[in-house]
Amino acid sequence: MTLFLDVNTLGSMVDQHGTEEFMTELLGYMKDDFCRWEEFDKSSRTAAHSDIGVIELMPVADGVNYGFKYVNGHPPSNPNVGMSTVMAFGALSDVSTGYPRLLSELTLSTALRTSVTSVMAAQALANPHATSMGMIGCGAQSEFQAIAFHTIIGIKELRIFDIDHQAMNKVAEHLKDYPELTVIKASSAKACVEGADIVTTVTADKAYATILTPDMIEPGMHINGIGGDCPGKTEIHLDVLKAGKIFVEHEPQTRVEGDIQQLPAEHKVNPIWKVIAGLEQGRDTEDQITIFDSVGFALEDFSVLRYVYDLAVQLGVGEQIELIPQLDNPKDLFGLTKRPSCSSTIREVA
Ligand SMILES: NC(=O)c1ccc[n+]([C@@H]2O[C@H](COP(=O)([O-])OP(=O)(O)OC[C@H]3O[C@@H](n4cnc5c(N)ncnc54)[C@H](O)[C@@H]3O)[C@@H](O)[C@H]2O)c1
Repeated sequence: MTLFLDVNTLGSMVDQHGTEEFMTELLGYMKDDFCRWEEFDKSSRTAAHSDIGVIELMPVADGVNYGFKYVNGHPPSNPNVGMSTVMAFGALSDVSTGYPRLLSELTLSTALRTSVTSVMAAQALANPHATSMGMIGCGAQSEFQAIAFHTIIGIKELRIFDIDHQAMNKVAEHLKDYPELTVIKASSAKACVEGADIVTTVTADKAYATILTPDMIEPGMHINGIGGDCPGKTEIHLDVLKAGKIFVEHEPQTRVEGDIQQLPAEHKVNPIWKVIAGLEQGRDTEDQITIFDSVGFALEDFSVLRYVYDLAVQLGVGEQIELIPQLDNPKDLFGLTKRPSCSSTIREVA
C-alpha cells in the first residue's frame, strides 16, 4: 500500500511535532543528502511554459529511493484569482521495485523545505554573528523563511517589505507567536534591507524585476535570493550579482532559471553542496557579499519526502491507499475490471 499525506494531515503533523523541531530535523535529512550529492542521478527540471506561468517536474534518485515533485509557478495571475502562486505534490518510490511508498502534498512541504534550504546555505555563507534580516516579499513562503532564520540562525530583528500592505500585516500578525523576534514593517525595499546582515528576496512576478539594486548592498551582507527561479523572472540587479560570491544548487538548472541567467555562461559560480560537505570554503572575508541564488532543486524535495514519510510513520498518521493494484496474479491486470465493485459503479452511472 502507498501512504497518502494530504495537506491537512501535513499541517497537523507540523503543528503536533512543532515547526522548529520539524525544520531542525528536516535540516539534518537535507544536509545528509547534500553531503551525498555525487551519489544522486540528477537532472534539471522539465518545464512547460505558458504566457502566464510554468508547470515543472523535478525528479531525482539514489540507489534506494526515487522522488519527484510536480510544481507550478503562476505569479501574479493565480493570486489575482484567489489561488496560490506555487502548488505542488509528489511521490517517493522504492528504486528496487518502482513501487510508490509515499504520495504527498508538497505545497506546504515546499515552503518548509525552501526555508530549510535557505538556512542550510546561510549557515555556510552568512557571517556567524548575523542577527538581523531584511525580507522583501510577504507572500506564502515568507513566514517559513522568517521562522527558520529566527529559530535556527538566531535572527532577532526582522524588517519586512511588500508592495501589498495586507501581506505585510499578515506576516507581522503570524510572527507574534515568536516574542523574541522583533518585526518591523519597512516603508520601502531600501529601508527594509538597510543595515541587515542577511537579505532575503522572496517576491513573485513574471518579470525581469530588480528588487535588489547596488545602492542597497552593504559589505558583509548575505543575500538569500528565492524568487528569481524561472527564465525571464529575476530579483537581483546584474551589478549586485557581479559584486558577490555566488552559490548555486544544480548549476545547469540555475544557469537557465536563476538570477545568474543575466550573467555570461563563463561567470564563475560555486556549488553550495561542496561548502555543505566541507570540501570548499564559503565566505572568504567578513566584508564579502555572498549570494545564494536559490531556484529550488529536486534533492530538497527528496529530503522532505524522506523526512515526512519517516515522521508520518513515527506519528502513525496518513492514509494507506491502493494507488497500485495488489494482484494475486501480477499478469492478471485485466481481472481488476471484473471486480464486483467496478461493475456496480458502472451500473450506477448508467
Ligand atoms: N527557490 C525556491 O526553492 C523557491 C521555492 C518556492 C517558491 N519560490 C519562489 O518564491 C517566490 C515567492 O513565492 P510565494 O509562494 O511566497 O509567492 P506569493 O505570490 O504568495 O508572494 C509573493 C509576494 O511578493 C510580493 N511582491 C511582488 N513584487 C514585489 C516587489 N517588487 N516588491 C515587494 N514585494 C513584491 C507580492 O505582493 C506577494 O505578496 C516566487 O517567486 C516563487 O516562485 C522559490
